[in-house]
Order: sequence, then C-alpha cells, then structure tokens
Amino acid sequence: MFLRVAIILQTVALFTAPITAALLLSAPGGRTLHSVSAYGVFAAAVLSLVAAVLAWRPGGGSPKPILPAAVFLGLTLAQVALGIADVKTLHFPLGVLLFGMSVLQLSQVWTGRRAHAAVAGRRGDDGLVRGTS
Ligand code: HEM
Repeated sequence: MFLRVAIILQTVALFTAPITAALLLSAPGGRTLHSVSAYGVFAAAVLSLVAAVLAWRPGGGSPKPILPAAVFLGLTLAQVALGIADVKTLHFPLGVLLFGMSVLQLSQVWTGRRAHAAVAGRRGDDGLVRGTS
C-alpha cells in the first residue's frame, strides 16, 4: 500500500515537471514552480525507495521493487544535475524516460498485488496480501 502510494505520488510529480518546464520557459515565476516539482519528484523517489525496502524487510515481501526504485533515484539526481547545468539535450529526454519508468514501476506493483490477491483467493485466504505494498 505504502509503495503504491509513493509511486503514484512520484508519477504525478513527474507529470507536472514538463508543465512547469513550459512555464519556466514562458512565464515569470516558472523557474520556482519547476524547482518545486523537481523537489517533489526527488522526495517521492526517496519515499518509493524507503517503501520498497520496508515492503521487503520487515514487510516480508519481494525485494524486486528495490532495484528499480534505487535506479530511479539515481537517475533523478542526474536529472537535477543536468537541469542545474542547463544541459537541455540530455535533461529533456531523461525527463521523458523517468516518466516512462515511473509508469512501468506503477504497473508492476499494481499487477503484482492483483496476482497475489488472485492466488490468495484461490487458496481461500482472506485476500490480504503482505509485502506487495
Ligand atoms: C520532461 C520533463 C522536463 C523538462 C521538459 C524540463 C525542462 C527544463 C528546462 C527547460 C530547464 C531550464 C534550463 C535553463 O535554461 O536553465 C530545466 C531546469 C531544471 N530542471 Fe527540468 N525539466 C524536466 C523535468 C525535470 C525533472 C523530473 C527534474 C527533477 C527531478 C528537473 C529538475 C530541474 C532543475 C533542478 C533545473 C534547474 C532549475 C534552476 O536552474 O533554477 N527537471 N528543466
């Protein structure tokens, strides 16, 4: 649950990044808004990594989401550095890549949860799934 919420926040924050980037290029105050969405993406990426680790230990779930969350955080730091250095030719495509990765992470934690619930349902469990969130 916690992991799903963190990745949803991350995806929403990433969705706002190109919008605020357009404001940065066209409106006064846009730079501040883009910085705010950048901080949001960074905070959500840290939260997702923490949630992925907690879902594994002590949650007892799979450690699989930890690697993509760690890679995502690393790429986010690179994105911030490229933005500050004004390397637009890398900064723009990396932003698009990050959004794609975040949607992929979201679909994976979502389908993983559904698969667990289906297995638990077939076993006659109460359907509660530990460690997928
Ligand atoms: C597709 C998405 C994005 C686009 C199109 C975009 C575009 C831009 C542009 C045009 C700049 C201004 C560069 C300049 O002229 O100084 C910029 C700066 C910056 N961007 Fe992005 N960006 C995107 C996503 C992100 C994300 C996801 C982050 C962080 C997680 C980020 C962090 C930054 C930072 C820290 C700056 C420097 C701001 C400053 O100098 O005050 N951007 N971005």
